[in-house]
Amino acid sequence: MSTYSAEVKRVTTHTLQEMKNRNEKISMLTAYDFSLAKIVDEAGIDAILVGDSASNVMAGHETTLPITLEQMIYHASSVVRAVKRALVVVDMPFGTYQGNSSEALRSAIKIMKESGGHAVKMEGGREIKESVIRILSAGIPVMGHLGLTPQSIYKFGTYTVRAKEEEEAERLIEDAKMLAELGCFGLVLEKIPAHLAKKVAETIQIPVIGIGAGNEVDGQILVLHDMLGINKEFKPRFLRRYADLHTIILSGIKQYVDDVRRVDFPNEKEQY
Ligand code: KIV
Repeated sequence: MSTYSAEVKRVTTHTLQEMKNRNEKISMLTAYDFSLAKIVDEAGIDAILVGDSASNVMAGHETTLPITLEQMIYHASSVVRAVKRALVVVDMPFGTYQGNSSEALRSAIKIMKESGGHAVKMEGGREIKESVIRILSAGIPVMGHLGLTPQSIYKFGTYTVRAKEEEEAERLIEDAKMLAELGCFGLVLEKIPAHLAKKVAETIQIPVIGIGAGNEVDGQILVLHDMLGINKEFKPRFLRRYADLHTIILSGIKQYVDDVRRVDFPNEKEQY
C-alpha cells in the first residue's frame, strides 16, 4: 500500500497475535487528535484506540453515549493522519451497531472508509453477535469489549467493578469465547477482577487487553488524558499517572497571561 513507509514496520492485528504467542506484552493507549497521536506513535505504542471516551475527555459529556458516528470519524481520521506505526482501532459509538446487523455493517464500513482506521471495537457479547459476524464477514477486523461497558451505564447504574459474582463471571467467559470463535482479533476487558481476566486470557487464543483487569492479561490500555494527568478529577484505583500535565499546562498558561499583562511578551527578539 502506498501510504506504508519503507522504514516503519506497521503493527497489524497479526502482529498483536504474534506478540501474544511469544508472551510479549502489548501496549495500547487512547488518542483523539493529530498532535497527541503523533507523540503516542513516536513513543512506540503498539495500538491506539480512538475511544468513544472522546465523548468525556474531548467533548465534556458525562457519558460516552452522546458521541456520534461523524464525530468519531473526525477524531479517528485526525489520529490516522498522525500515525506511522501503531494499529489504529476505532470505537463504534453507541446506537450505531446494537439495533440491527445491517446498520452495524453500514456504520463499520463508514468508519473504515472515511477515517482510514484499521479496525473497529464494539462493546458487548452475545447480544451483538449478529452484528459482529456481519462486520467480520466484510473483512473488517473487530475488537470486542467486555466487563464494564460504559455504553451500558444506564443499565449498570454505576461504574463499579463488574463480574464479581459467579453468574456474571461465567457469562463473561462464555461471551469472550464466542467473540474469539467468531474471529475477533482482540478483546478489551474493563474493570473486572484480576483472577477472572487471567482466566479469560488463558482460555482464549486472541490477545486480551486489560484496563483495571490486573497484569495477567496480554496487554494494557489506559485513557491518554488520565495517564498524563490532564484530567485530575478521575482517579480510579487502576490508574497510574505518568505525568502531571495539568500542573505543567496551568503554570505555562498562567505565565503567558502574566507576561502579556506586563507587556513582557513579545520582546524585541520576538517581533518583526
Ligand atoms: O473509549 C475508551 O477509551 C475505551 C477504553 C477505556 C478501553 O473503550
